[in-house]
Amino acid sequence: MKISTAILSITSLSPAHSWTAPAIPRFTSRTKVSTTGFTQLHSAPPSSSTKYADPSRYLSDHPNNNVPPHIAALVGKGLHTRPNHPIGIIRAKIQEYFSSLPHQDFTIYDAEDPIVTTTQCFDDLRIPPDHPGRSPSDTYYITDTTLLRTHTSAHQSEHLRSGADAFLCAGDVYRRDEIDASHYPAFHQLEGVRLFPVEEMKGAEGKEGQEWLESEECKVIAEDLKATLEGLMDHLFGETEKRWNEDYFPFTSPSYELEIKYQGEWLEVLGCGVVHEEVLQTSDRADRRGWAFGLGLERLAMILFEIPDIRLFWTEDQRFHSQFASGEIVKFESYSKYPPVYKDIAFWIPEGFVENDFFELARGIAGDIVEKMELIDEFTNPKKGKTSKCYRITYRSMDRSLTNEEIDALQMQVREKVAEDLGVEVR
Ligand code: PHE
Repeated sequence: MKISTAILSITSLSPAHSWTAPAIPRFTSRTKVSTTGFTQLHSAPPSSSTKYADPSRYLSDHPNNNVPPHIAALVGKGLHTRPNHPIGIIRAKIQEYFSSLPHQDFTIYDAEDPIVTTTQCFDDLRIPPDHPGRSPSDTYYITDTTLLRTHTSAHQSEHLRSGADAFLCAGDVYRRDEIDASHYPAFHQLEGVRLFPVEEMKGAEGKEGQEWLESEECKVIAEDLKATLEGLMDHLFGETEKRWNEDYFPFTSPSYELEIKYQGEWLEVLGCGVVHEEVLQTSDRADRRGWAFGLGLERLAMILFEIPDIRLFWTEDQRFHSQFASGEIVKFESYSKYPPVYKDIAFWIPEGFVENDFFELARGIAGDIVEKMELIDEFTNPKKGKTSKCYRITYRSMDRSLTNEEIDALQMQVREKVAEDLGVEVR
């Protein structure tokens, strides 16, 4: 029951920002893949994102730094570069597919600095200043102008500017978000970009806006994008039913999302589109045209390996890691059915209460044993003009049984700290 609920909830896994796409499907078939690892494609400098494993880089004393120590500690783990980790296995399988495509060599980037500027992450991508995705309630800021990247698209413009014509870019990304089996404040994305040869795009020269959108060349790119990504899905999931929906991203136009049918349900898999001409202009590549896509690796891995809880990707437990090997997609065997402990907390909220602050505070105290936090009741007292919220916290460890005493102690700390730090009035 627990497992199927978790997998279904992947549909709602789409992060809160409206430029985001990433939901992912899953698959029943247990394919053995012949992935040969990370070196098949024309490769950028050797990967070692682990060099970023230095929490002090993320914990500046800037007054607007909102990176808590438990998030800083996640950076640089490099799950996407570990050949025997489900995230690394999926990444390799995606690379394998792109290496099989005839037209172009895709350069692989997997070790960019997760600290990016607001210019890289937002401005270069035409994400407007008032976009909710830029808000500190959704994003981890180091300073006012530097942050933990919220998507791998943050590296599009630098790679385009450096002259890359086709590339894949994988990395860890960070978003303040809700807490449940399919949401974790750190996850991994893989970005792909392809620019077309100048000769093939001659007819598009000088075209912008509507004229560009209606051009034959724009259609050619969109068709190639769709065919390429449909092929990727077949490579990952076997033949599967797919459908395209129109979507919106400030940095692509037209934009689409791809859904695939899994267990009778349509699941969103990725976001993509034709690169907006202004993004190309910003990157000094105004003479070129192309496509881009971005997908979430955890979602794909949860489906392909039937991994029911996103926290598992971060565990050090050998019972998890011993199940996976490079190039193999196998069904994950759950090794724990430890019971959950539920605790409710109700409080009057002050003006400007930010839910993500509360979620993060609980994870800061209790760590990954916080499995889920949900709002179960809310009402406003018209006389007082005050609103009360009641949240249920599900505590559960994947490695051991929890005692009531230890959870009571943690819950007490949460009650104290939420009053102290967030100014709520606990009831
Ligand atoms: N960056 C987008 C996201 O995080 C995905 C995307 C990438 C969309 C590239 C279009 C092109 O949701």
